[in-house]
Amino acid sequence: MNAAIDVSRHRDAVEFADGVYWIGALDPTLRTFDIILSTANGTTYNAYLVKGSEGVAVIDTVKENFSDEFFARLESEVDYADIKVIVLNHLEPDHTGALPELMRRAPQAKLYISQRATSMLKALLRPSAGVFEYTTVKTGNSVSLGDRRLRFLHTPFLHWPDTQCTYLEDEAVLFSGDVFGCHYCDKRLFNDLVGDFRFSFDYYYAHIMRPFKKHVMDALKLIEPLKLKQIAPTHGPILRERPRRYVTHYRELSTSSLSGEIGGDDQSMVIFYMSSYGNTARMAEEISAGAGDVEGVRVSLYDLEGGETEPFVDLIEEADALLFGSPTINGDAVKPVWDLLSSLAVVNLKGKLGGAFGSYGWSGEAVKMIEDRMRGLKMHIPREGLRVKLIPTDEELDDCRGFGRFIAETLVGKSPQKAVIDFADLA
Ligand code: FEO
Repeated sequence: MNAAIDVSRHRDAVEFADGVYWIGALDPTLRTFDIILSTANGTTYNAYLVKGSEGVAVIDTVKENFSDEFFARLESEVDYADIKVIVLNHLEPDHTGALPELMRRAPQAKLYISQRATSMLKALLRPSAGVFEYTTVKTGNSVSLGDRRLRFLHTPFLHWPDTQCTYLEDEAVLFSGDVFGCHYCDKRLFNDLVGDFRFSFDYYYAHIMRPFKKHVMDALKLIEPLKLKQIAPTHGPILRERPRRYVTHYRELSTSSLSGEIGGDDQSMVIFYMSSYGNTARMAEEISAGAGDVEGVRVSLYDLEGGETEPFVDLIEEADALLFGSPTINGDAVKPVWDLLSSLAVVNLKGKLGGAFGSYGWSGEAVKMIEDRMRGLKMHIPREGLRVKLIPTDEELDDCRGFGRFIAETLVGKSPQKAVIDFADLA
């Protein structure tokens, strides 16, 4: 392979290891993926082909609209009758769009999917697609192509329940699905030839993998011991130069940035607030003081008027309890609070303690609305939020301290939780 490679100029398969080919498609004009992800220069749908002495394996396919390109590249190397194995590392439509047609053209091929992919496969292949044989596999299972073998790694929730990776032992190529991928379209295809895709790689991790950090760490335990010559993901460049650097980077991205900063067994409570006339701020300070009296809880107080929301996301991910304070303006919480709350879909908040508070003039809906959002994020709300009409009285400030103390004591297990129905538990 050399710097002159340009896969947009032909529809041939591209060999990148002995008998191993890229048969994917370029989508350079895509600007938004899955409605929410920005794709500044498009993406690729990477699919692969592995030739063995006793048959051929196809690993993943492409988005349906790109089927022609996929089939043209496949046909440039093999006949459909030679396809013995089809591996689906992930069943999202951008990788299975061409599957029904591939199975129609290669009906003898056997499908290999993860256990959790079964229900998705049935939903994906309507009865009109026919009946196909499939085998579910897990870590330790493998399939032979005669002189070479594909080994499967069970890596669920990266980023769907069904996801797995497939490893070609003799060439040390890891077909990693969405893992180690990015939305970056470059006709030069390989990481040592394409443009600077570091932003896209981190952006993809932050939006796709970050909510599943625990599962990333589990997957890395399987991947790190492997000999790795190349990583072949389903989006973006094939990582043939220093592939292990990307594995290490995934571990770094999945490791707590605050590790060691919140000392010992301390629990972290972070309080965010906005205040129009200083009343919600007074509440926040008293709640912070009350929580701070509880041993083993480290309390942090942030006025959202003084900060951008994005840096707080890291803090929130590491916190054990989160409180949000907002006045009610026009029947709603204020925009900076919503901005922060709406940016939290990329982190896993399930089970963290939450609480809301705020001063209001005449209606005071904000507190309830914030609580509903926290429940939607699967947080646990141990106590109904605090609302104060306009200026808090001394008695109400006492209530604020008690509120902070209650949440903090709940955090360290000193306070019996009220028997409340948390709708997050029912999800
Ligand atoms: Fe690239 Fe999760 O599909």
